[in-house]
Amino acid sequence: MDQQEWTRVVEAATRAPSIHNTQPWSFTADGDRLVVRTDPSRALHALDRSGRQRIVSCGVAVEFAAVALAAAGADVDLELLPDPADPDVLAAVTVTGRREPDERARTLDSAIAARHTERAPFLSRAVPGEVVDRLQATAGDLRVWFKPITESEEEVATAFLVSRAEEIEQREPEYLAELQQWMRTDPAAVDGIPVDAVPAGDPSTRPSNWLVRDFVVGSRSADRPAGSDLDPDAPPPPVERPTVVLMGTDGDDREAWLTAGRALGRVLLEATAAGLAASPLTQALDWPATRTQLRSRLRLVGYPQMLLRLGYPSGDRTPPTNRRPVSDVLTFG
Ligand SMILES: Cc1cc2nc3c(=O)[nH]c(=O)nc-3n(C[C@H](O)[C@H](O)[C@H](O)COP(=O)(O)O)c2cc1C
Repeated sequence: MDQQEWTRVVEAATRAPSIHNTQPWSFTADGDRLVVRTDPSRALHALDRSGRQRIVSCGVAVEFAAVALAAAGADVDLELLPDPADPDVLAAVTVTGRREPDERARTLDSAIAARHTERAPFLSRAVPGEVVDRLQATAGDLRVWFKPITESEEEVATAFLVSRAEEIEQREPEYLAELQQWMRTDPAAVDGIPVDAVPAGDPSTRPSNWLVRDFVVGSRSADRPAGSDLDPDAPPPPVERPTVVLMGTDGDDREAWLTAGRALGRVLLEATAAGLAASPLTQALDWPATRTQLRSRLRLVGYPQMLLRLGYPSGDRTPPTNRRPVSDVLTFG
C-alpha cells in the first residue's frame, strides 16, 4: 500500500461519526499495516468518564477503514487491541492480499460519504420490517445485539430515561461547559458540532416521543417562550415516530466497545444504502444511573452501547459536518 492509498483509506475512516465530533483517533500506516489509536487528549471527561463513547467512535472509524479497503479490493486481517502493553492502540489492519472488489463493498463504501447524522424530524413513513431485519443481521454478524424498541412499555421506559438523562445534563455545569467547548459557530471549523447541524428549536417542543440531544441549552434566548413561533391556528404538525433501536454487547470492556462501534459503522452504512438516515440518542447511556436503569427496565442481558433513531429523511437535510485534514491524523512509519 502506498501513501496515497492509505490517505484514501484514512479519509474514509475519519468520516466516522464520533461523540461531539471529537474525532478521537490517530493513524499510523507502515507498509501494508495501518494502526489505529485513540487520542485521549480529545476525551470528554464530563459526558464520557469511562471513555466508552470515545472507543465506540473509534470502532466506527476502524470499520469504515475496513470497508474502504474491501472496496479497493484488499483482503485484510483485523486485530483488535493488538498491544497488551498499550490499550490506546485499538486496532491493526493488515492487507494480506488482493482480489476483485465486490459490488456490496462498493455500495457500502459510497455510503461513507453520503452518511451523516440527521437530527431533523423524519418522514412519518415506517421503516420496513425486512430492512430492520437486515440491519439486525448486520450487527449480529459481529455478535452485537440490535433490539428494536417496539413494545409500548419499553418505548415509554426508554423515552422516559432519555428525557431524564437530558434533564440531568441540563443541570450539570461541567457537562454544559464541555458541550459549549465543542459547539462551533464557524462553518469552516474542522471538528466539533456546527450549530447548523443541530435543530434550531427547543427539542422538548418537537412533536416527537423521542427527545434529541439539546446542543444549545443555556444559550437559547430565555425571553422567547417555547413554541412562541408557532401559529396557534395552524393544524398540529405530524408526530414523528422514528424506528428506535438499542444496540449492545454481552461484555462492557474496550473490546466490546470497539466491536459495538464496528457494528454501528456497518449498520449506519447499510441504513444509508437503504435510503435511511439516523441519529444517535445516547443521553440515557451517558450516565451510569440511567444506563443501569435502562438495563433493568428493559430486562437486558448485557450492556446497551448505542440508542439509534432511524427513519426516512425529509427534504430539508442537515448539512454534513467537517473533519480535520487527514494530514493531521495520519503519520507514515
Ligand atoms: C458514540 C456516539 C454517540 C453520539 N451521541 C449523540 C447524541 O446523543 N445526540 C446526537 O445528536 N448525536 C450524537 N452522536 C452523533 C455525533 O454528534 C456526530 O457523529 C458528529 O457530530 C459528526 O457528525 P456526522 O455524524 O454528521 O458526520 C453520537 C455519535 C457517536 C459516535
